[in-house]
Amino acid sequence: MEKLSVKNLTKIFDGSIVAVDDFNLSVKEGEFVVLLGPSGCGKSTILRIIAGLERPDSGEIILEGKRINDLSPKDRDVAMVFQEYALYPHMTVFDNLSFPLKMRKLPKAEIQKQVHGAAEILGLKDLLPRKPRSLSGGQRQRVALGRAVVRDPKLFLFDEPLSNLDAKLRQQMRAEISKLHRRLRATTLYVTHDQQEAMTLGDKVAILKEGRLRQMGTPLELYRHPAEAFVGEFIGNPGMNFLTARVEGSGELRVASSQFSPPGNISRVFRNYTDRELLLGIRPEDILLSGSAAEAISLEGEIDLVEELGNETVVRVNCGEHQLTARGKDYGELTIAQKVIFSFPWSKIHLFEKESGKALTGPLS
Ligand SMILES: Nc1ncnc2c1ncn2[C@@H]1O[C@H](COP(=O)(O)OP(=O)(O)OP(=O)(O)O)[C@@H](O)[C@H]1O
Ligand SMILES: [Mg+2]
Repeated sequence: MEKLSVKNLTKIFDGSIVAVDDFNLSVKEGEFVVLLGPSGCGKSTILRIIAGLERPDSGEIILEGKRINDLSPKDRDVAMVFQEYALYPHMTVFDNLSFPLKMRKLPKAEIQKQVHGAAEILGLKDLLPRKPRSLSGGQRQRVALGRAVVRDPKLFLFDEPLSNLDAKLRQQMRAEISKLHRRLRATTLYVTHDQQEAMTLGDKVAILKEGRLRQMGTPLELYRHPAEAFVGEFIGNPGMNFLTARVEGSGELRVASSQFSPPGNISRVFRNYTDRELLLGIRPEDILLSGSAAEAISLEGEIDLVEELGNETVVRVNCGEHQLTARGKDYGELTIAQKVIFSFPWSKIHLFEKESGKALTGPLS
């Protein structure tokens, strides 16, 4: 069942700053959807509009089949967790958790039950008598989560709730949020600009750029079939590489001043794009540095940077106007300024139109 639907949402600040541009989104009951995009692309504005903290210029917010545009924030039954924990400093953890229930005038016994229930789920039982200032960042964020959980809202909205935490704690909290979601199955819209967080948490990920939805899909769909170059670049660690290319009248593919003859079935695909400016998208993990492999595009480059991660190596290679990043395990000894032949199989190429960045086909295999 569709739980939340956002239709043709537009928000313009100060008459000219287009923060959200004809944005559409649909979230099913129990689904965890992540909004992912670079800083300033409109993520927080969308959440704030759904929560009722901001008015849209146009568009509709439908929650459980009902238009909620004109409802005040407190009547929408959505809970929002922010980057700043916004706990009441003078209240204990117990009082912080029970506050939203007191506001709703629930009986004392019921409040006790719900707060203890949430504290149990989030591992906060021992912290209930403490004040926020005596808690660590992770514990405070857990209290903020708990305050959303006790409300049992129709919808959870999270705005980068983990970005104040250090890397290790962030990973730990990510796992906890994931477990919490599996347990509660609460419909959730979660904002982040961290692609790894998005990929590991989201049932679906919606990619935004400049206020517009670019693509929505499961993490693997986005990784395997980016609908535009921007999505390919944003998803993956590091993101996709791009090489400009052109299909000559002869059917040869020109890449960085070299010519290649595509094999039969792939050459038929390329022929559709003769004389057009193309972008070849290639994932770092699909680049080989072991000399030219059969049935592959291979080019000469010069090593610009080597990052040894222990279990694998990230290598940046300059090749004429292009700079590519490769990632792999078996690259052997590499030094800066070393000349290398790098290659990638035809089957791993994603094809985009250069001008628009739109995908023309998936991987060619
Ligand atoms: N109250 C405001 N007045 C004017 N412009 C605003 C206001 N709020 C946001 N904006 C602008 O709208 C755009 C979207 O902002 P928003 O905060 O939604 O981005 P974001 O995706 O959440 O970014 P970040 O990842 O940095 O939090 C930005 O260009 C921002 O400067
Ligand atoms: Mg934001």
